[in-house]
Amino acid sequence: METVKLGIVGFGFMGHCDADMMSTFDDSEIKLVAVADTNPEQLKDAPEGVETYNSIEEMLEKADINTVMVSTPNPSHPEMVKKAAAAKKNVICEKPAAMSVALFDEMVAACKENGVLFTVHQQRRWDKDYRIMKEVYDKNMVGDMYVIKSQLYGFNGNMHDWHVYPEMGGGMLYDWGVHLIDQMLDMVKSEIVSLYADVRNVINENVDDYFNIIMKFKNGVTAEIELGTYYLTPKRAWFIGGNKGSAIIDGFNGEGKIVRTAHLLENVPGKITMTAAGPTRSFGPAAPGLLQEEALPEVDVNHRNYFEHFVKAFNKEEEVVIKPEQVRRVLCVMDAVRESAKTGKAIAFEA
Ligand SMILES: NC(=O)c1ccc[n+]([C@@H]2O[C@H](COP(=O)([O-])OP(=O)(O)OC[C@H]3O[C@@H](n4cnc5c(N)ncnc54)[C@H](O)[C@@H]3O)[C@@H](O)[C@H]2O)c1
Repeated sequence: METVKLGIVGFGFMGHCDADMMSTFDDSEIKLVAVADTNPEQLKDAPEGVETYNSIEEMLEKADINTVMVSTPNPSHPEMVKKAAAAKKNVICEKPAAMSVALFDEMVAACKENGVLFTVHQQRRWDKDYRIMKEVYDKNMVGDMYVIKSQLYGFNGNMHDWHVYPEMGGGMLYDWGVHLIDQMLDMVKSEIVSLYADVRNVINENVDDYFNIIMKFKNGVTAEIELGTYYLTPKRAWFIGGNKGSAIIDGFNGEGKIVRTAHLLENVPGKITMTAAGPTRSFGPAAPGLLQEEALPEVDVNHRNYFEHFVKAFNKEEEVVIKPEQVRRVLCVMDAVRESAKTGKAIAFEA
């Protein structure tokens, strides 16, 4: 097996996270050879034995690497990817890969032209909560599904550093939106018929910090992705509704359950039943024993799996998992999201 000899450009928050991840691999699988950053301060705590450079050009010229991880802020991704590709290095680019579909196409073309691998670090495909729900979906565990909700609510709301500038690709749609849309498209492998979205700046002046995206898929599923940084009630939740039960998750560790009914209500008495919900036979408390809970499926995944797959793709043992055409589709959805939010209208999409 050939070793992935990696150089990271942009040794900030994510560059450091990725360097930490590399330290969990055997040097024969992935070896972090070099890091490059235009800010010398960032290079001061580079891991021992790792070469440091002040620019991608210097790293490409001097370091013995075969793969570049691009972890610079969003607008510089196309330039970094094209430079790495021109130097015949494989490329892993941070998300969002590009701030427009046109720029993304240029990056893909540059990598194709130079015969190098190109993939994007959308490692949240290996989030435990998502994978549990994907298992529920793939195995039809709640029957014919009609709705999937993915919700992420935060506790603060204000953006930091370059994330406050629209021209830097700030805002939550470019940030978590990429991951949450990618997860949904990877789960519901069906064309999108139409999409409606609300995108807002709740407390941030210049960039979005709330969005709600509703996608109607050709296979009958309606998916809703809602993110609010200023909900002040932190939560990561999923709901899948089907005609044989509901699956619920609350938490990144996949805490949740599948709920079914023991039997459907028949011969409900015609007289009014008073409940806390008022006079209702459908929304008051369920009779004892009516609702039955089951455990969610177990999954064993983590973000390291992303790089394990990359090592295999690098050695031509499998295809890259995060494929350029999937990344492109997410960017197209994001364009439709913006268009819908601007016009207040649903957008006809793929089907
Ligand atoms: N995959 C994920 O889950 C995830 C999580 C966080 C951030 N990200 C992505 O990672 C990227 C970096 O984000 P961050 O939060 O680490 O930002 P950051 O500001 O902490 O780090 C960026 C680094 O790049 C350096 N830099 C800027 N321009 C450069 C250039 N031309 N050449 C070399 N170095 C340069 C900066 O000095 C800084 O050290 C973004 O695209 C972001 O969206 C991905």
